[in-house]
Amino acid sequence: MGTHLSGTVAEGLAFMQVIDGKKADSLSGERIDVRCPSDGKVFASIPASGAADVDRAVNAARRAFDEGPWGRMPAVERGRCLTRLFQLVDKNGEELAALESRDTGKPARQGKADVVATRRYYEFYGGAGDKIHGDTIPFLDGYTTLTLREPHGVVAGIIPWNYPLQIGARVIGAALAMGNTLVVKPAEDASLTALRIAELALEAEIPEGVLNVITGYGKDAGAALSAHPLVDYVTFTGSPATGTAIQQAAAVNNRGVTMELGGKSPQIVFEDADIEAALPVLVNAIIQNGGQTCSAGSRILLHRPIYEAVAKALADRFARLVAGPHQEDRDLGAMINPKQKERVEGYVAAAREAGIPVLAEGAIDPAAPSGGYYVKPALFGSVDPDAALAREEVFGPVLSLFPFDTEQDAIRLANDTDYGLVAGVWTKDGARQHRVAKRVRAGQVFVNGYGAGGGIELPFGGFKRSGHGREKGFEALYDMSATKTIVFNHG
Ligand code: NAI
Ligand code: MG
Repeated sequence: MGTHLSGTVAEGLAFMQVIDGKKADSLSGERIDVRCPSDGKVFASIPASGAADVDRAVNAARRAFDEGPWGRMPAVERGRCLTRLFQLVDKNGEELAALESRDTGKPARQGKADVVATRRYYEFYGGAGDKIHGDTIPFLDGYTTLTLREPHGVVAGIIPWNYPLQIGARVIGAALAMGNTLVVKPAEDASLTALRIAELALEAEIPEGVLNVITGYGKDAGAALSAHPLVDYVTFTGSPATGTAIQQAAAVNNRGVTMELGGKSPQIVFEDADIEAALPVLVNAIIQNGGQTCSAGSRILLHRPIYEAVAKALADRFARLVAGPHQEDRDLGAMINPKQKERVEGYVAAAREAGIPVLAEGAIDPAAPSGGYYVKPALFGSVDPDAALAREEVFGPVLSLFPFDTEQDAIRLANDTDYGLVAGVWTKDGARQHRVAKRVRAGQVFVNGYGAGGGIELPFGGFKRSGHGREKGFEALYDMSATKTIVFNHG
């Protein structure tokens, strides 16, 4: 599997961090067991880094920014580095997809789809950095002014476990395209592909120290990274609570942040919608990656005249869903860890106890290893809009249905959570498409479709508790840089 394997531990492979272009264990020598969610068994280990390791990585990124060739490299050359990384991701795509699936439990096809998106991020940002330019601004007589987009400096990227390759690529691609240097900390439950990408980045001739990847627990490595005084900007995707902690840590140094903090995203289906086209999309939006997706479509608002028929059609589909090991490529895989499995089962149990009707349940493959973290997909009908199930991010294969009577009701219900990440609107009425898309508070709205997994070109991010700042597309390049204004007084 390549040079990243420095040796073996009892059950498997000892992965190393990449700091300043070199392989590095944690200074303490402590390691974290890596388990495959499909069977719960240890197959590898990663360094358990702490504040001293973070300090090394941040200093390496600092030197690479302040003194290295990266800052002076023309944007087109930086772009070529990312383009080489795109080619290497392509060449090593099968290995990366398999590693991602094994580390996260996601079905094999999802690992492959993640590699396709990852490749596209590096391709897009490889070509984007030299297309960003500043302005000249009409000003007083005797002056000429101009603006430059400048990198922040050292960026810290704290990455979650649900889409490590993809979310890693959207951070790495945009930050490096603009000339920043990076310290990335992937999640303790899914660090392997980020470590592999750091090696491929060296192979792509991205200079040493420009992309450092350290591993460790959030409370240790993550907390030290977000509070480090030599970090200029922090970007984070994950839970709102951890987002608050990271913003508080970054605030001590008054640093800027981008926060992508999940959602409780609605899809609104009106009576005139093409139901046959909508059904598979409605199911996939909550089943993809086992529902562990920030943009998961976890609430479906159904126009009352079609409520019964669509609920029944969804129930038929839910009853046929099967969770199983990643290699078997079933409808969904295992949850990332036992804590996430308990969380999902807790929401399901509480909803049942509150008397919310279960319309259908999927199954767990009887041949699935008993140590895996599987949950059954569940569909709930007529959910009370005040129930926890209606308001909180479950991050699992649990879908809630809500009836509505008028367009106004639908918009009110759609906006009736603390989140505002993505929304779907299904109707053939063109005027209604525009009205609803404008009034729903969400960073992305899909009309007669749903899905943010691809769409690397499309700006992505939240309103309200879903966070702030925008990733993906050209917008990410603005988040990953700051405007400098230069004023010439030439009389
Ligand atoms: P988390 O938000 O705590 O973890 C995400 C990342 O933050 C990981 O890399 C972790 O090591 C790091 N982290 C944790 N504590 C930190 C701290 N104090 N300082 C700096 N970094 C820290 O998410 P967790 O606990 O794994 O999952 C809980 C819930 O969060 C999920 O059930 C889901 O609802 C939500 N979540 C949302 C994601 C999204 O894509 N929006 C991704 C992952 C989780
Ligand atoms: Mg894992």
